[in-house]
Amino acid sequence: MWKPADRIKYQTEVASWPDAQRAATSRLFSPIVIGSMSLEQRTWIPAMVPWRSNEQGEVTQDVIDWYGRFAEGKPGAIVIEATGIRDIPSGPLLRISNDGYVPGLQRLVETVREASNGRTRLLIQLIDFLNIRRRPDPVKYFERFLAITDQHREVLAMRGADESAVRAKLGQLDDCELEQVLSPEELEALRFGYRERVTDTHIPAIAELPETLPGLFGAAANRAKQAGFDGVELHYAHAYTMSSFLSATNTRADGYGGSVVERIRLPLEVFSRVRDVVGAEFPVGCRFLSDEIVEGGSGLSDACFFATEFARAGMDFLSLSRGGKFDDAKQPKVGWAAYPYTGRSGYECMPSYISDAQGPWERNVEPVAAVRSAVRDAGFATPVVTAGGIYSFDQAERLLEEEKADVVGFARQALADPDWFEKVRRGRGEEVMLCRYSNYCEGLDQKHKQVTCELWDRDELGDPGTVLATDGKRRLTAPAWRG
Ligand SMILES: Cc1cc2nc3c(=O)[nH]c(=O)nc-3n(C[C@H](O)[C@H](O)[C@H](O)COP(=O)(O)O)c2cc1C
Ligand code: SF4
Repeated sequence: MWKPADRIKYQTEVASWPDAQRAATSRLFSPIVIGSMSLEQRTWIPAMVPWRSNEQGEVTQDVIDWYGRFAEGKPGAIVIEATGIRDIPSGPLLRISNDGYVPGLQRLVETVREASNGRTRLLIQLIDFLNIRRRPDPVKYFERFLAITDQHREVLAMRGADESAVRAKLGQLDDCELEQVLSPEELEALRFGYRERVTDTHIPAIAELPETLPGLFGAAANRAKQAGFDGVELHYAHAYTMSSFLSATNTRADGYGGSVVERIRLPLEVFSRVRDVVGAEFPVGCRFLSDEIVEGGSGLSDACFFATEFARAGMDFLSLSRGGKFDDAKQPKVGWAAYPYTGRSGYECMPSYISDAQGPWERNVEPVAAVRSAVRDAGFATPVVTAGGIYSFDQAERLLEEEKADVVGFARQALADPDWFEKVRRGRGEEVMLCRYSNYCEGLDQKHKQVTCELWDRDELGDPGTVLATDGKRRLTAPAWRG
């Protein structure tokens, strides 16, 4: 992962925790209404992909165990990981792309209800993403993948040469020479792996996204409702399709790119279809970015506009993340796909303990506060969820008191200790295992390995019933809190 030049090391510390009485009278542990859904407390576990599904994208026993374990901590809400809405093979990404997935998802809902004694609300994040290929072996790229054109022949002064001769010649060129011959897209495909963009409107499926996506999101949201979820979160953040429509880099010329009004058009049309399908009573919100953190990308003023328009359209909540784009991702190794959390924008999404003068914590708090103010100034009371480097009661309580958000997201802190919420609520914060922000978990995610936390994945491996990762070395869920 990218690291700031200063490389200052930070350690997570908490001076004091509240007693049970203080917790009981806090804002954090007070209820909030989100659309027709009521959260018992203003705590929220944002979506995190743990790679527990299978090649069919089903709810496996490991998926059930993973979320059941989070539910034991009884947070206000859990958002199930990014879940695919297209009925296509998507590796071990969880899917909600046909009605066959509903019974498994129903089991997941029941598990969370039972494990939290009905105290945790459960949402699911719905994602669409475009094709991305692995970085090719250069030999194979020139031998097979690259489509040879007359443009190549022209620049190589090989007019009329047969394809194999052009391929052979390209294979002999160094990097500087290749830059003269290949187009920027071809160079990117060689160096990073081919990746589709929403601006590739010469590809019919991409040109037609405004026609296809509302239906896909609508059908998926309807399945979520059938499965018994309390709501859905539309994934409009990070490196994926809907975020790419919102991005200032979206220059589509068909009315769905260019100005902010055109860029938000499809996200609003998707929401409108989802609303029509699930009805006014079913909570629907979205996750989007307070800032893309990439050159030429959308910034805070775009986010304020988007938030206000989402609120105006009737979204029930707005959850904000930050960064996490392909645009500045590191070059992957040959055979690997680019990962959108390896550049500076990725750092801003999941900052690690090696940081700059600002430090790794709360980097998203002020931008989200600005977004919330814009929404309030426009006259909307839509609840806003913040996240990023929040691990202590004091941090969370302060930002709620200062009205910087309405709900507080704890992603890695909940991964480090799923019992954070119960421990703090009961006045036993000293027992919390604090996240180190080491990003060991994120490193596993990058390799699509089962995500665990270094604070507990080697503990009590011999416990009866402990399920191990496929590497046989790590437990898959945190040991039970014997509090
Ligand atoms: C392993 C892992 C998987 C993640 N998967 C998702 C995801 O599916 N959808 C999403 O919106 N964010 C995802 N995130 C980002 C988190 O939801 C969160 O925004 C980020 O970790 C910053 O919050 P934190 O500092 O509380 O961890 C993931 C983060 C981690 C560590
Ligand atoms: S591995 Fe654990 S301690 Fe490290 S960042 Fe992830 S959740 Fe935090």
